[in-house]
Amino acid sequence: MNERDKNAKVPGPAAGKAEPSGLRKGLASYGDSGFSLFLRKAFIKGAGYTDNALDRPVVGIANTGSAFNPCHGNMTQLIEAVKRGVMLAGGLPMDFPTISIHESFASPTSMYLRNLMSMDTEEMIRAQPMDAVVLIGGCDKTVPAQLMGAASAGIPAIQLVTGSMLTGSHRSERVGACTDCRRFWGKYRADEIGDEEIADVNNQLVASVGTCSVMGTASTMACVTEALGMMLPGGAAPPAVTADRIRVAENTGATAVAMALSGLTPDKIMTGKAFENALRILLAIGGSTNGIIHLTAVAGRMGIDIDLDRLDVLGRETPVLIDLKPSGQYYMEDFHKAGGVHALLRELKPLLHLDAMTVTGRTLGEELEAAGPGFPQTVVRPFADPIYPQGGIAVLRGNLAPGGAIIKQSAADAGLMEHEGRAVVFENIDDLVARIDDDALDVKADDVLVLKHIGPTGASMPEAGYIPIPKKLARAGVKDMVRISDGRMSGTAAGTIVLHVTPESAIGGPLAQVRNGDRIRLSVKKREITLLVSEAELAERMSANPVTPPTAERGYRKLFLETVTQADKGVDFDFLRPKNTTERIPRDRSGDE
Ligand code: FES
Repeated sequence: MNERDKNAKVPGPAAGKAEPSGLRKGLASYGDSGFSLFLRKAFIKGAGYTDNALDRPVVGIANTGSAFNPCHGNMTQLIEAVKRGVMLAGGLPMDFPTISIHESFASPTSMYLRNLMSMDTEEMIRAQPMDAVVLIGGCDKTVPAQLMGAASAGIPAIQLVTGSMLTGSHRSERVGACTDCRRFWGKYRADEIGDEEIADVNNQLVASVGTCSVMGTASTMACVTEALGMMLPGGAAPPAVTADRIRVAENTGATAVAMALSGLTPDKIMTGKAFENALRILLAIGGSTNGIIHLTAVAGRMGIDIDLDRLDVLGRETPVLIDLKPSGQYYMEDFHKAGGVHALLRELKPLLHLDAMTVTGRTLGEELEAAGPGFPQTVVRPFADPIYPQGGIAVLRGNLAPGGAIIKQSAADAGLMEHEGRAVVFENIDDLVARIDDDALDVKADDVLVLKHIGPTGASMPEAGYIPIPKKLARAGVKDMVRISDGRMSGTAAGTIVLHVTPESAIGGPLAQVRNGDRIRLSVKKREITLLVSEAELAERMSANPVTPPTAERGYRKLFLETVTQADKGVDFDFLRPKNTTERIPRDRSGDE
């Protein structure tokens, strides 16, 4: 025992009126706070801690490692590096587990569990004594869940991501999850490749641990979180297995200690201006459509509403500059080598709020200044030479989607953006699975595929909006069709696909009333999605076929069905958002000088 430990007294509650910190925070209730602390210290000393260690600022580390989550397969190394950073900066690191969600291992959908993970994260941050928290996430739903939880918990928080996986090689063609997963599966469905080749490519699509290597939802959320100011500058792009990723982790730990000491809470970072910056980045990276839902949910926790129509205005003036799949050709490791998010921010500088605060305690503009000039590269295009002239995502309205819908125009077929066709309707996923590949299905290449009941309450919003091209058309060479649903689509997917139709069919939205043979018109130019039946006919169908929303008897499913909001509110639970909206963004700048 050292001198300090021998002489150490069990400290009482923090002296004076200062807020308790470190181990003294949030004592369990025994009616005697001195005893509560005495007991807490007795237990933690059972793990061998000294009083010296226990007097330090405590940094919690949300550990989302799981054998079911290979996207977080480098968690052990990251936690070790974060702990090193915390200790070098004079803090005490304490990692703790929370729910982990992987896209392929979450049934019925990962979206169903996102809010549960956010509640777990929030309550564990509240319940355990910590002065700041490092959130380690990566796979699609984990980062938004952690940001939502941290936004509600309110203590200093910093996001770290696991980083992207490496690309693989299939018969000397570079491949990566999961744009290429879908491309090769499409070839297999069209009988262009056989059983042997599809098995071969299955071994190469995910070449290491880490998140999907294209601009899917995980990469999108990493980039927008850096732009939001909740992650270290340069923290989004380094791949999972690189030394750069580990260094980011160490620096994240050190920064968390500084945040604990300065009291840099999420409300000082996640402001309306910061969310506008994040939305700009979402549009300029050709980001996942899921990013809108997640940013809406995180902003909602801060009392900030995202106005879809104004987002569309933002989209019209923000070009897609990142040449990454699925909108372009490169992968995340190329984006990292090209300078990552800083290279993009430099191009977008005139459109950004440079005075927005970041986790470093410096503004976005100061960080950009400190990063210095860029260097020649081909992944991030100059503002004047974009890969797509407008933002990746357009917002649609019309009698089919009075509450809005979206389309990822940068990844759609230009020839289908103005299209009218006959509806071929699937009532739900089971119906789709049963009939889509039936040679007897009455479908032609210029038809519009409609899938109902995959909205938030209908099916907890699976990524089934990427309706497969019917096999008989795929075999005939059809690569894209207009597809419409109230569900979501993976950020790694591409096609002329209308998503997030609001209100959803399961609660009686007009989508529920579409019938086989109806005509539907899509006009991305006019931002319209229209069911070409008269108002009277639609009203008649609605009263003749009222929809009964699904219910559940018990448990989390009951909570989910009774409180989940629609896509335009982020699919969060209504009781997790503050009662009042304090801000609406993007701001209407039509009156600005
Ligand atoms: Fe985890 Fe794609 S499945 S990031």
